[in-house]
Amino acid sequence: MSNNFKPVFHFSCPIGWMNDPNGFSFFDNSFHLFYQHYPKDTKWGPMHWGHATSKNLLNWQNEKIALYPDSPFDNEGCFSGTAIEENGKHILIYTGVSKEGDVNIQQQCIAIGDGKNYSKLSSNPVIKSSDVKVDFCKTDFRDPKIWKEGEIYFCIAVIKKPDDNGAIALFSSTDLRNWQFKNILCETNGELGGMWECPDYFKLDGKGVIILSPQNVRKDLQKRLKQGNNSVYMTGNFDKLNYTFTPDLRPENNFKACQIDDGIDFYAPQTMESPDGRRIMIGWMQAWESYITPKNHNWSGMMTLPRELFFVENCLYQRPVREYESMIKEWKKQEGIFTSDKSSFELENCAQFDLTIELDFVNSVAQATKQGKNPVISLTLSDGKKDSVALSYNQSENSLTFDRSNTIDNGGACNNRTIKLPEPKDKLKLRFIADTYSIETFINDGIIVFTNAFFLTEDTRKLCIKSEVKTNVKYKIVIK
Ligand code: FRU
Repeated sequence: MSNNFKPVFHFSCPIGWMNDPNGFSFFDNSFHLFYQHYPKDTKWGPMHWGHATSKNLLNWQNEKIALYPDSPFDNEGCFSGTAIEENGKHILIYTGVSKEGDVNIQQQCIAIGDGKNYSKLSSNPVIKSSDVKVDFCKTDFRDPKIWKEGEIYFCIAVIKKPDDNGAIALFSSTDLRNWQFKNILCETNGELGGMWECPDYFKLDGKGVIILSPQNVRKDLQKRLKQGNNSVYMTGNFDKLNYTFTPDLRPENNFKACQIDDGIDFYAPQTMESPDGRRIMIGWMQAWESYITPKNHNWSGMMTLPRELFFVENCLYQRPVREYESMIKEWKKQEGIFTSDKSSFELENCAQFDLTIELDFVNSVAQATKQGKNPVISLTLSDGKKDSVALSYNQSENSLTFDRSNTIDNGGACNNRTIKLPEPKDKLKLRFIADTYSIETFINDGIIVFTNAFFLTEDTRKLCIKSEVKTNVKYKIVIK
């Protein structure tokens, strides 16, 4: 397989390794995406900030590396952070990792630039370990998010408490250079993982929203938490005078935090506000638990599709950015009713497609039970030889399974995942967006999103839809 066969409308690492999105922002008429980057290997190494720009969030132009780990305050790595615009300058805030004795400590640093070149402040770190006025582990203090309210800049960053659990520390400043610790905004005592990573804060539809990525979460189906690393959101009120954030109980799962994406490959998301006021999120489309990069690739790491966030009846929804919807208008369209009387429905050359199937939920389950069969509708993407990945919807369980076990680099224990779907009122709508090495599934207009990556060894893709039982499924597909 050629190394140059890459995702078409998802950002992927030009060479070497990529993890978290960083500094996702709009500056000087372009969208900017920075990312955790190690250019010399397809594995994690000393972190740089890679950089790309785009006019439409889909076609990205690679820019030169913005930050190298080459200063006394960051020579062990430039870890994750965010960006804002101030007085016509692009301000990056990131975590500088440096040695103190034989341990690596983490502190917050600033670099200022014009969209191409960035220079670090000589007064870095601007938020030092000694600025944190509670007991914590200096080895884990990272991932600053910065925003401005009135004349005040706020910054949140995660810290590890002495009991190894995570918390979000809040700081404020009037000049970006001098920062005061204000409070612990929220924390876990084990009920929401151990250490936390990559906090974000923004306002959406009048609500305060915090996004964060907790590590070492215990699986809990009721709370829709997965084992290991999760990315969740909380809503609540940020009180900027008393420096507190009180999380609401989320209606989706009756807990203070709710999963953002139930797939295997989604972590460390970050948001930005576009000039037209949309809240747009992008995430790393991979998981620390599942390294599936093929050995012959000279790049590792993809980002999700940028997604607009919005609330409907107090539940958070995600949909692909509207730039994507305009792009696919140019693609080849087919629609109709798929009946399983035909042995299967097959399409060639499907490396990039957008397929929606609609099921009359109540009727189709009843029909299947009457026929006494396993009511599964499956979608298989194969490389024309022997490898394939499948997404199957089980109507009696109302569950969706992604399975990449039939690929060479399948992530071992992480090679499949099943999620239970919320009972739809009437219709169930599944939208599958595939781009070369990934399928993002948007369920019922994005109340649940299920993001999974895979590596098929050939460039071709054959799509096959099958149903075990007699069924009528309305479908609509566009293929690039
Ligand atoms: C999250 C993370 C961040 C850290 C970065 C290092 O994936 O662990 O907390 O800043 O990656 O690359």
